[in-house]
Amino acid sequence: MLKNILIDYIKNAQKSGGQDFEIRQQLFNIGWEPSDIEEAFNYLRKIKSEENIGESALGGEFISAKGIEKRFGKTEALKGVNLAIPKGAILALLGPNGAGKTTLVRILSTLLKADQGQATVGGFDVQKNDHQVREIIGLTGQFTAIDEMMTGRENLMMVAQLNHLSIVESQLRTNQLLTKLRLADAGDRLAKTYSGGMKRRLDLAASLIANPQVLFLDEPTTGLDPRSRIELWEIIKQLAEAGTTILLTTQYMEEADHLADYIVVIDKGRIIAQGTADELKKEIAEDMIEIHLRHPEQTGGAANMLIDLGTESPNVDPILGQIVLPTQKGPSVLVEVVRRLDRARIEIADLALRRPSMNDVFLKLTGHGTEQ
Ligand SMILES: Nc1ncnc2c1ncn2[C@@H]1O[C@H](COP(=O)(O)OP(=O)(O)OP(=O)(O)O)[C@@H](O)[C@H]1O
Ligand SMILES: [Mg+2]
Repeated sequence: MLKNILIDYIKNAQKSGGQDFEIRQQLFNIGWEPSDIEEAFNYLRKIKSEENIGESALGGEFISAKGIEKRFGKTEALKGVNLAIPKGAILALLGPNGAGKTTLVRILSTLLKADQGQATVGGFDVQKNDHQVREIIGLTGQFTAIDEMMTGRENLMMVAQLNHLSIVESQLRTNQLLTKLRLADAGDRLAKTYSGGMKRRLDLAASLIANPQVLFLDEPTTGLDPRSRIELWEIIKQLAEAGTTILLTTQYMEEADHLADYIVVIDKGRIIAQGTADELKKEIAEDMIEIHLRHPEQTGGAANMLIDLGTESPNVDPILGQIVLPTQKGPSVLVEVVRRLDRARIEIADLALRRPSMNDVFLKLTGHGTEQ
């Protein structure tokens, strides 16, 4: 009974725009026990996430953006972006430096207001219901947000407290996450002694403290060595399997290819392609011939001799001595490549017929690669 009064009080105070920390303080001042206050907040949070999820979230898409535009002075960072992510899916936003990835993540995570367009997360409008959106999301930014002068454990405890978890809950969650992200042994060391991979894992742990339904990961593996990257991929996959909806940004083809259910390719503020990794690859061609020449200075001449074997003009890297040619002619084309180059006395160092990589997709779509 008394608890109902407490719950109603909080509901009303929230409706009239009160911040949770202010409401907590008011309730404490009028004599409520902190444990009761916490229980009431937890109850409300649970109800909200179970019942209040808007229609679009129930209808399939858990994150949706329509016609998002954003400009910074003269720079048009986003020029009308649409996307939709179903619950429990991983969407990769793939694009080079300056494409607009971070801008979109900041808009969807309520840190930045769009100039135009509408976006919802879990059915909540990111502008009108920013408070509710923040309750259900976790964000790992492009640059680490951890305090290097604190231990891993202290960092997580601090975030837990900022999320208003009780001390006991905070300790429990911190221990769980240190173990889950393989930081248990390093938990009591200062974060400044961590490797890059460990810092990224600690960052991810911090964004998981409040058990978010949606996770935004802005370039989670940039700068990591291949092993740390694969470790983080595994963790991200497990989170999605457990029902977390994930939007991650990346500049790496293989990351999108490996992790994402759906890939949105963005360049200069515009979506230039989207689909599953297989769909995007099919857009290009059936196969790619990749040729490496012994003498890179012969690349241009060699490429000219092979043009008619491809479905498109070849992509040429005269520094690496590499020619990549999309083809639908199948393995027999390799014999023809060898014959022609041999006749012109151009030496081949390596020759392969392979499925197109995501990098080929990007080159085709934008005329430039992703890794500069
Ligand atoms: N606060 C800002 N003020 C001015 N310009 C900005 C601001 N934030 C982003 N921009 C510009 O908007 C464009 C998109 O930037 P954004 O950070 O979204 O790109 P990104 O895809 O995340 O790139 P990166 O891969 O380098 O992180 C860039 O031209 C950038 O310079
Ligand atoms: Mg960025």
